[in-house]
Amino acid sequence: MSEAFKTRRVRVRAGAGYEVEVGAEVLGVVGETARRALSEHARRVALISNRRVFSLYGGRVLESLRAQGFEVADWLMGDGERYKTLHTAERALAFLAESKIGRADAVVALGGGVVGDLAGFASALHLRGVSFVQVPTTLLAQIDSSVGGKTGVNTRAGKNLVGAFHHPRAVVVDIETLDSLPRRELTAGWCEAIKQGAVGDRRLFEQTRAFLSEERGEASLRRSSRVARLINLVAAQVEFKARVVAGDEREDVGRTDARSRRILNFGHTVGHALEAATAYRRFRHGEAVGYGMLAAGEISFRLGLLDASELELLRQAVRLAGRLPPAADMEAASLMRWLATDKKAVGGRVFWVLLEELGRARVVDAADIPQRVVLASIRAALGADRNSRRQV
Ligand code: NAD
Ligand code: GLY
Repeated sequence: MSEAFKTRRVRVRAGAGYEVEVGAEVLGVVGETARRALSEHARRVALISNRRVFSLYGGRVLESLRAQGFEVADWLMGDGERYKTLHTAERALAFLAESKIGRADAVVALGGGVVGDLAGFASALHLRGVSFVQVPTTLLAQIDSSVGGKTGVNTRAGKNLVGAFHHPRAVVVDIETLDSLPRRELTAGWCEAIKQGAVGDRRLFEQTRAFLSEERGEASLRRSSRVARLINLVAAQVEFKARVVAGDEREDVGRTDARSRRILNFGHTVGHALEAATAYRRFRHGEAVGYGMLAAGEISFRLGLLDASELELLRQAVRLAGRLPPAADMEAASLMRWLATDKKAVGGRVFWVLLEELGRARVVDAADIPQRVVLASIRAALGADRNSRRQV
């Protein structure tokens, strides 16, 4: 018999306002949550997932939705970033139409960020927008992508270039689903968790680092203590994301302050360059962000914004996230070419998210940073991985 853990509830003040429930073994409440959050006229639910996640968790979610009287149809998309396309969205839309999902009905997304972004996008388009509920099953999706209303797909022109802001009506996070997550996916999620603390909340950074440090320690935590701490940590991460989103819901292009949504792009300038330069094959997104944070930290230090001791803490935290794929063979100079194509550029200007200290970001125009500083910082960051033997 499993222990009962206290579920944490986080309110997101964006869209129509919604709640994120964070708990252990809570897939069985998805039906009740949907019943509470959706219109009283909701009758049908379209469950979108992929084969891998559905085979692990689909049964419990279906059962819980049906127990609440919903008529449920399920549809499984392909697994992986390459399926986050307009073509898949079109197939999802055909499924919603065939399943007769009406204006009061809803879509439930069960899976990682790929499923959530695609299902959210389809629900934003179907009948000009129907409700959706997120049930994220990767760490990245639980602390980041399921909260904040960004939905979308990739096109030939680049990642996430087509999409819509469409907030879920509710989010149910079951941290037990992380038990089946491959190690690299966890590392990628931890990198994003470190990012969120680093840019805006020192206590969150410390909480994340302390959790990881105990995880990696010799004496493993008692299971009950670990689960409770993980619930609290994921809830704290969600609270942080919710706070940023509430303050700058649509990522206002005019904002460059330390509370703007843009600060969530810390580590993404070099991260995107690493992903693009390796045709999205070598790194999970979060792993590339891990290197990107090290590079942005180095720049911050070399510009005199960030103390050496703070940079060292950042390096330690990234190490604790897990092993990153080697990157020391990558040419820093050739990565510079990709930096100029940053899709977050505004009016042709690329902005870096840097750090003044852990917990406080500063957005800086790339034109104000000498190229030699960027180059040297990227080299230092790529060589900083303890597993790399070769230097750039
Ligand atoms: P993902 O959705 O591809 O999931 C990673 C892998 O883990 C997949 O193979 C998936 O099938 C598998 N998986 C998922 N849950 C599992 C579980 N519990 N057990 C075992 N395997 C499981 O990757 P991701 O990192 O979750 O999401 C990345 C996507 O999120 C990208 O497309 C990115 O653009 C998007 N994203 C969106 C936002 C946003 O605000 N909307 C923010 C960040 C990232
Ligand atoms: N993941 C970045 C954002 O939601 O804005």
